Amino acid sequence: MTATAGNEVFESKITAYVLACWILAAFGGLMFGYDIGISGGVSGMDDFLIKFFPAVYAKKKKAVENNYCKFDNQMLQLFTSSLYMAALVASFGASKACNLLGRRPTILMASVLFVIGAALSAFAEHKWILILGRIFFGIGVGFGNETVPLFLTEVAPVQHRGAVNILFQLMITVGIFIANIVNYVTSEMHPHGWRVSLGVAAIPAVMLGLGSLVISETPASLVERGKVDQGRAALKKIRGVDNVEPEFETIVAGCEAAAQVKKPLKKLMKKSGQPQLIIAVVLQVFQQFTGINAIMFYAPVLFQTMGFKANGSLLSSIITGLVNVLATFVSIYTVDKLGRRKLLLQGCIQMCISQVAIGVILVTNLKATGSLDKTLSTVVVILVCLYVMAFAWSWGPLCWLIPSEIFPLETRTAGFAFAVSTNMLCTFIIAQAFLSMMCGMQAYIFFFFSAWIVAMGLFVLFFLPETKGVPIDLMVEKVWKQHPVWRKFFRSDVRSYEMA
Ligand code: BGC
Repeated sequence: MTATAGNEVFESKITAYVLACWILAAFGGLMFGYDIGISGGVSGMDDFLIKFFPAVYAKKKKAVENNYCKFDNQMLQLFTSSLYMAALVASFGASKACNLLGRRPTILMASVLFVIGAALSAFAEHKWILILGRIFFGIGVGFGNETVPLFLTEVAPVQHRGAVNILFQLMITVGIFIANIVNYVTSEMHPHGWRVSLGVAAIPAVMLGLGSLVISETPASLVERGKVDQGRAALKKIRGVDNVEPEFETIVAGCEAAAQVKKPLKKLMKKSGQPQLIIAVVLQVFQQFTGINAIMFYAPVLFQTMGFKANGSLLSSIITGLVNVLATFVSIYTVDKLGRRKLLLQGCIQMCISQVAIGVILVTNLKATGSLDKTLSTVVVILVCLYVMAFAWSWGPLCWLIPSEIFPLETRTAGFAFAVSTNMLCTFIIAQAFLSMMCGMQAYIFFFFSAWIVAMGLFVLFFLPETKGVPIDLMVEKVWKQHPVWRKFFRSDVRSYEMA
């Protein structure tokens, strides 16, 4: 198979080895997704609360039922969100490790750190060990999220790059779904169900660690570290063909330009580094302010708010989890055909309409006490599914894909670390604030998120360039320098890779 990218023709075959590389690396997504899905359920388990947060448990028992203000407790929210602070800091360390050691060892480190986190959490007898476990989980997630999407983007043939990278998001959604089911089962296992939930997190991490021993290092990382022959050999192996010279030359050219840049962070802050940085950071802020994690972390609480019984609400969140997984396939199939912009814009429209509709139904029908009738509750679940579906084929996967493909090699890992840490920071903010915000804003919170979605759509319309089909090492010339807004950041007399 050949891909025409600009003037370049790159040959590639999809070999069993390549498939194994993609699938194994995508276990990083599973690790992250499992954690997103597991924390909310664990922090609602009575056995867990009695052991570590007895005051919260006592309050929960005495609480006067109010639809919008259930379980609002900062300490408990801190348990969910502390992981993201650790991941935020760790992503910068991971960026350094990626540059100095390569993508493969950094993936192995992610797996080891995560396994330590799982062991500490599962056997925790004291609150401080539990928190330490969260911190190790967080560092593991930071390392995995920094490296895995970059790895997938660098090994993918250009014509399938979007689909390959989205394997990461696919595995995130599978992880969330599995976690929901695990919680459903362990909530009946007294008194140690929560230990099982947290300990099972080690499984995807071990798979990732084993995978890292099998996968090939990326050609770009090898060449960047002076291993040119190994880089060529790696490219032949992952492309499954002998004639890799045209593609290899673009990688070498990218690496030579990158070698001139001694301080990637400084380069990133320069004018010609800003367009990519702005896009990477803004996309991540927007992704979180779609409100997706309000649904992912707190789906059972949300559905209880709408009048479902405990079991019914868990079941409804399992349904949304399944929709999340299935809709991601739409993105895998369409992203390299339709392009990134169309998917993001379509996603905005569908998410905005669903959120406004949910808001209108709740504002007009759900008071602080009482519940929705059966028909309206079903409509709300359907609307939540439509919302999750749109997110799953647009802002979910593309906010990992786009930042991994827009930076030139010299700023790639540092730039991507900003994307990862922004994602973690905003996830932290939503996880920490959502229950309190729902208590204060009640159903109007859905209008708050839909206003953000309108802003996101406008941003895509005017500022986001299309990156479909462009080799990552030609991005500056073919994308940024051609864009009506961003080309002003690149002086025409300066080479695409401005010296640091
Ligand atoms: C986001 C997560 C979110 C998940 C839902 C990911 O892309 O980064 O915050 O929970 O999608 O599927």
